Amino acid sequence: MEGGGTCRDVCKELGIAYEGRDLRAGFDATRSESFDALGSFDFVWLHPPYWQMIRYNASSRCLSNAPTLAAFVSALRSVFANCRRVLAEHGKLAVLIGDGKHEGRYLGLPFRTLNAAEAEGYQLAAPEIIRFGHGSTSSKRVYSTSFIPRLHDVCLVLERTSSNR
Ligand SMILES: C[S@@+](CC[C@H](N)C(=O)[O-])C[C@H]1O[C@@H](n2cnc3c(N)ncnc32)[C@H](O)[C@@H]1O
Repeated sequence: MEGGGTCRDVCKELGIAYEGRDLRAGFDATRSESFDALGSFDFVWLHPPYWQMIRYNASSRCLSNAPTLAAFVSALRSVFANCRRVLAEHGKLAVLIGDGKHEGRYLGLPFRTLNAAEAEGYQLAAPEIIRFGHGSTSSKRVYSTSFIPRLHDVCLVLERTSSNR
């Protein structure tokens, strides 16, 4: 889910070996076969769509086009399961996700993401990291009603669940 390649650029700057994939280049992360010849990774970075907040393309395989929230979570679980297979023994998987609203209700996407990851055999490897959206549109907007705007995303750093849990 490398999108425009921010992670690729950061790795290049830091001199870290990098492999990037995305549906827009034909790689469907929900399919187990996509991962067959990839080898293993010390670190996997995932930045999935926040369900339907932004539609990235017209493909039914895109997580932004999942018809229901349950279908989105189910697809995310498949991605977690596939990534787990290619994670090195002490490898970490980080996922960046923010919340969104659907039909006037908050979806709780960061919480659903953690639940989905736990169901696929991950546990938190670190406290959650909050990415504050300094430059986001909503940080400058003036709202007519009083409510708490969402100004952050959550980064969850995960590792395989230890066997004694
Ligand atoms: C939030 S964007 C990632 C943005 C990225 N961090 C960047 O630097 O541009 C989510 C990405 O997930 C990709 N995606 C959605 N469903 C996917 C799937 N099933 N397999 C692989 N990539 C998928 C989309 O094509 C989109 O590029």
